[in-house]
Amino acid sequence: MTLRSLDFESSASTSSAIAANIHKLYYFFATLSTIWYNMAMSKIISIVNQKGGVGKTTTAVNLAAALSEAGKFVLLIDLDPQGNATSGLGIKPDELQHGLYNVLMGQARGHDVVLNTAHAGLRVMPATADLAGANVELVSMEGRESKLSDIVSELRHAYDYIVIDCPPSLGILTLNGLVAAEHILIPVQAEYYALEGLGQLLKTIELVKGQIKPNLEILGAVITMFDGRNRLSGEILQELYKFFPDKIFRSVIPRTVRLAEAPSFGKSVIHYEPNGKAAKAYGRLAKELLSFFGEKNIEIE
Ligand SMILES: Nc1ncnc2c1ncn2[C@@H]1O[C@H](COP(=O)(O)OP(=O)(O)OP(=O)(O)O)[C@@H](O)[C@H]1O
Ligand SMILES: [Mg+2]
Repeated sequence: MTLRSLDFESSASTSSAIAANIHKLYYFFATLSTIWYNMAMSKIISIVNQKGGVGKTTTAVNLAAALSEAGKFVLLIDLDPQGNATSGLGIKPDELQHGLYNVLMGQARGHDVVLNTAHAGLRVMPATADLAGANVELVSMEGRESKLSDIVSELRHAYDYIVIDCPPSLGILTLNGLVAAEHILIPVQAEYYALEGLGQLLKTIELVKGQIKPNLEILGAVITMFDGRNRLSGEILQELYKFFPDKIFRSVIPRTVRLAEAPSFGKSVIHYEPNGKAAKAYGRLAKELLSFFGEKNIEIE
C-alpha cells in the first residue's frame, strides 16, 4: 500500500466520521425541536361519551371557561349538531351564517368562523343546525375521518388548549373528534346505568389509536352529577374505579341546579355563579388537568 492510498483511506474515514457526527447532531436537534414543538403546541382534548345527557357539553363549556380563567387561550369546538356548547356560551346557532359545518365542507376557513365569547381567553367554533347533514355528507368524502383533524392542525398554533364537545353517538362526527384529539376525557354520570356502553367506547378509542392515531390517549373519566347523599353514587364510584384504574379525575362534579340553569342565560357557570360549588368543581378539574400537563403555579380557587 502506498503512502498516497493510506492518506486517502485515513481522510476517507475522517470524513465518514464527520458525516456520522453530523447525522447524529441532525437527529439530536430534530428530536429536540419535535419535543419543543409538541410542548409549544396546544393540547387537544375531546370530550366523548356516546351515552346521551351525561354532562359532556356542561363539562366542555365549563372546563374550557375555567382553563381560560386560568390564563390559557382556549378554543372550544362544538362538534354536536344540537349546538348546546354554542348556545351555552350565549351564541345563537340559528343566527349564524357560518359554522363548523362550512369549514368541514371546505366552504370557509377555520379562523373565519371562530367567535369570541364573554370569557377573554375563550373562543368557540360554533355548530349550526346544518352540521347534522355532515353525518351523511362526510361519508362519501375522501379522508372523511380526518376532516376535523386537518382543521385543528391549521389552528392549533394559536391556542393553548382545544376542547372538542362530541355528540352522543359513535358516528362519523365523533370519529372526527377522536382522530383530531390527542387526549380523551370521558364524563360519566354518577348513576346506575353509567357504565353501560363504556366498553364499546373504549374499544372504539383503541381502534382509532391502533389504525389512525397512535398518540391518542385516554386522559381519564370525570364523574358528573354526583350526589353525595345518594348511596348509589358511592357504589357507582367504586365500580368506576375498577373500570378505569388510575384514570379517574379526583375532581368530582356535583349535581347542582346552577349547572342546569346557566346555559339558559348563555353563561358558563364560572360567570353565572363564580363562587358556587359547580364553578369551584370545574376550577379544580381545570387545575388537575393543567398540573397533568406539567403547568405550575396555577391561580384557581
Ligand atoms: N352536574 C350537573 N348537575 C345538574 N345538572 C347537570 C349537571 N351536568 C349537566 N346537567 C344538566 O343535564 C343535562 C345534560 O347535560 P349535558 O347537555 O352537559 O350532557 P351531554 O352529555 O352533553 O348531552 P348530549 O349527549 O345530549 O350531548 C343538561 O340539561 C345539563 O344542564
Ligand atoms: Mg352535549
